[in-house]
Amino acid sequence: MTDKFDICVLGLGYIGLPTASIFATKGKSVLGVDVQPHVVETIKQGRIHIQEPDLDVLVRAAVQSGNLKAAAKPSSAETFIIAVPTPFHETENGREPDLRYVESAARSIAEVIEPGALVILESTSPVGTTEKVRDWLIDELAGKYSSADFHFAHCPERILPGQMLKELVSNDRISGGLTSEASARAKRLYEVFCSAEIYVTDARTAELAKLTENSFRDVNIAFANELSIICDELGIDVWELIQLANRHPRVNILRPGPGVGGHCIAVDPWFIVSAAPNKARLIRTAREVNDSKPNYILEMVRQKAARFRDPVIACLGLTFKADVDDMRESPALHIVESIVDQKLGKVLVAEPHTRQLPSSLSATATLLVAEEAVRAADIVLLLVDHKPFKSISKRLLEQRVVIDTRGCWA
Ligand SMILES: NC(=O)c1ccc[n+]([C@@H]2O[C@H](COP(=O)([O-])OP(=O)(O)OC[C@H]3O[C@@H](n4cnc5c(N)ncnc54)[C@H](O)[C@@H]3O)[C@@H](O)[C@H]2O)c1
Repeated sequence: MTDKFDICVLGLGYIGLPTASIFATKGKSVLGVDVQPHVVETIKQGRIHIQEPDLDVLVRAAVQSGNLKAAAKPSSAETFIIAVPTPFHETENGREPDLRYVESAARSIAEVIEPGALVILESTSPVGTTEKVRDWLIDELAGKYSSADFHFAHCPERILPGQMLKELVSNDRISGGLTSEASARAKRLYEVFCSAEIYVTDARTAELAKLTENSFRDVNIAFANELSIICDELGIDVWELIQLANRHPRVNILRPGPGVGGHCIAVDPWFIVSAAPNKARLIRTAREVNDSKPNYILEMVRQKAARFRDPVIACLGLTFKADVDDMRESPALHIVESIVDQKLGKVLVAEPHTRQLPSSLSATATLLVAEEAVRAADIVLLLVDHKPFKSISKRLLEQRVVIDTRGCWA
């Protein structure tokens, strides 16, 4: 392998690791960089630190081929791909994007970047961030090179956890450059593994496109969540209602749930709200509706628990969605923590995607397999519709108070 890599990927998480690995298995020399030493060490050994179907096989193949290396610091490369977190933080003006990881990644390549390089921002970002990446890099270079020496593009990622490797290849993509040459170069690069369409646009449109996709989802989920609350008030079965309404040829209502979690749908709409606070009224309201749903469920549990002297509550699922191990921004986790904090009863947890409870629950709740937890419970609270939960016997459930927030047994 030459000293200069084809690609240097900054951030080896859910997005960066599959991306780095798939490029490597397609023959590109790739350096994966992460600031967490345990991530770098794990990948060097051809192993993975996150759960995603078949990712272990892909990473092992990429490392064994010699095409994927891992390091704590970037090296010279033709292309740099930034795939670091973009959370929000609370400020007195509301929720603002926290771009410090992107800034730090952009600045970290200044030491090794050479003229002609392409810098791609894959992290989901507020409008204007690709320009900021350029400005941070040029600032860090302190006059050594100018922005005309490099190419910059935003190529957002839209893969779904649980199906990442399939969607990485089959999803359409967007390549939005600060120049048309940058868009075209990024498009050519992703064509190495992407078999779908790659649409070319400018960076700002690409940035807003990704935020728009997740805001669209959020607004539609908020509609379903609001419906579920209205149905509770009116004594109507929301699952039957939605099934019937969806028989209309142009209606497709999503399923309600205990809230919206993860680091995308629950976060990205805020980037639009913070950029246009007086215009993004529907998007903000949808966020508020979805953010209020966990407390609504909690209140339901409190009312049911009040009927028992020493209630035992089986909480099924902690992750932010079904069939993944990711608990970031998980409404299910938040609800279970609140049940414990508010001492609503003895808490049993079933979460097939973890071997140990998160530290916030390890001293106060017990991890069991689902059937055992249900058998021991007065109240069964279904928070995530993981596949194994679907087969829990109806007879077992009939004898208990059931709160099925996902319509798993509807
Ligand atoms: N996970 C998803 O499903 C998904 C889907 C689409 C888009 N995205 C977006 O992709 C981006 C990355 O998300 P993720 O889920 O992969 O995050 P992640 O937390 O799984 O991984 C990010 C990694 O970046 C590392 N990192 C932080 N700062 C760094 C730096 N300066 N240099 C090198 N490494 C650094 C972290 O240690 C971490 O391992 C975010 O903007 C996210 O919104 C995520």
